[in-house]
Amino acid sequence: MPAPSLLVRNASSVLTLASPGTPKRGAALGDLGEVRGASVAVRDGIVLAVGSEGEMSRLLDGDDVTVIDADGGLVMPGFVDPHTHLVFAGTRAEEFEARLVHGRDYLDFVTAGAGGLSTVARTRQTPTDELESLIGVRLRRLLEHGTTTAEVKTGYGLSVEEELRHVHALRAAAEASPIDVALTLLAAHFRPPEHRDDPEPWIEEIVDRLLPAVTGPRLVSGFDVFCEPGIYSIDQCRRLLMAAHGRGLARHVHADQLSASGGAELAVEVGARSADHLGHVSDAGITALAGSATVAVLIPGSVFFVPGEQVPPARRMIDAGVAIAVSSDYNPGSSPIVSQAMALSLATVLFHLSVAEAISAATINAAWAAGVHDRVGSLEAGKQADLLVLEASDHREIAYRFGENLVRQVIKKGRVVAGRPIVGPL
Ligand code: NIG
Ligand code: FE
Repeated sequence: MPAPSLLVRNASSVLTLASPGTPKRGAALGDLGEVRGASVAVRDGIVLAVGSEGEMSRLLDGDDVTVIDADGGLVMPGFVDPHTHLVFAGTRAEEFEARLVHGRDYLDFVTAGAGGLSTVARTRQTPTDELESLIGVRLRRLLEHGTTTAEVKTGYGLSVEEELRHVHALRAAAEASPIDVALTLLAAHFRPPEHRDDPEPWIEEIVDRLLPAVTGPRLVSGFDVFCEPGIYSIDQCRRLLMAAHGRGLARHVHADQLSASGGAELAVEVGARSADHLGHVSDAGITALAGSATVAVLIPGSVFFVPGEQVPPARRMIDAGVAIAVSSDYNPGSSPIVSQAMALSLATVLFHLSVAEAISAATINAAWAAGVHDRVGSLEAGKQADLLVLEASDHREIAYRFGENLVRQVIKKGRVVAGRPIVGPL
């Protein structure tokens, strides 16, 4: 059934995030394309226009129109989360506390076979239907917090069979969810328990068996690596990323998260869509990113959550002209948060972004990082009608009221898919 036409009216402001067909950089990051008192007209799940209520009603004249009263709230595009790892089972609450109380190091857990590898063990033991339902519940949580499109990585399988099983579970859960999902294969996440001392045989398997198995039937669109000394070296990552490139996959890099290894430079060299984390990015890395189409995905969740993780030099990056995005990095080890609003709030405080910069980073620039900018990330004519009605009338409240879910209604492709009763602006 086609979605009915929609008139979203009575907003204090519509944040359009309109951009000139490129990711936002520099001063443009602070421009939300705000139209005060505007309405939004939607037909067939697509934005027709943003303008005065009278004009928008005229555009929809003759349609069967559902009217949504924003009741003085803000209207903005659904959040795009460009970096999540939600294909996993179990929690790591114990590790979390051990890091805080006993000063244990995040990477020690990984190399000791605990940490991420405990999630690998747990996920491998989880039957596919159970895994699928865990993923489905997590996608639902994201949606309730306003994320309407998410990039989702595998990476807790670490064998050909398990990675494929996780890809299929993710595809089934995504199919059943209103969220649009961009699938990324993160087979080179941690070293598999079977190859802890030497990942070369696993790298060969990824190139020779796994990549053909996922790209033949087009099961995923992206490929990611955890580029970190002691996990996967720059040279190993380069070989993997080039093989993925050869198979038509978009490249992403976990870069310079825990040490300065030249991950950002490598991401630019291989034409990656994104370089993510970047706490230890070098000056050369910043220059390379600024002169490229690679988006720097900043992850305040893990900086907040993992003691000692370095703050990326976000202001220097913005000043240099780097296109930045923000993500939740939802995962059980370094950032178990579902909310992009929470991530952008943390980004303002920890990375000294203005609220407007952080909103741009979590919407239109996040869409560029995930390769979905032609369809989502802003409210512009011809784009998908993925939008949020928020219980706030000033965009700064989105970061200021941290930890509170301000989402009143989530509209995906012109249909209300999540929300709660209207109680008026607080
Ligand atoms: O983005 N750094 C690697 N991957 C994740 C953490 C995954 C985990 O700890 O389970 C990250 O921080
Ligand atoms: Fe990550």
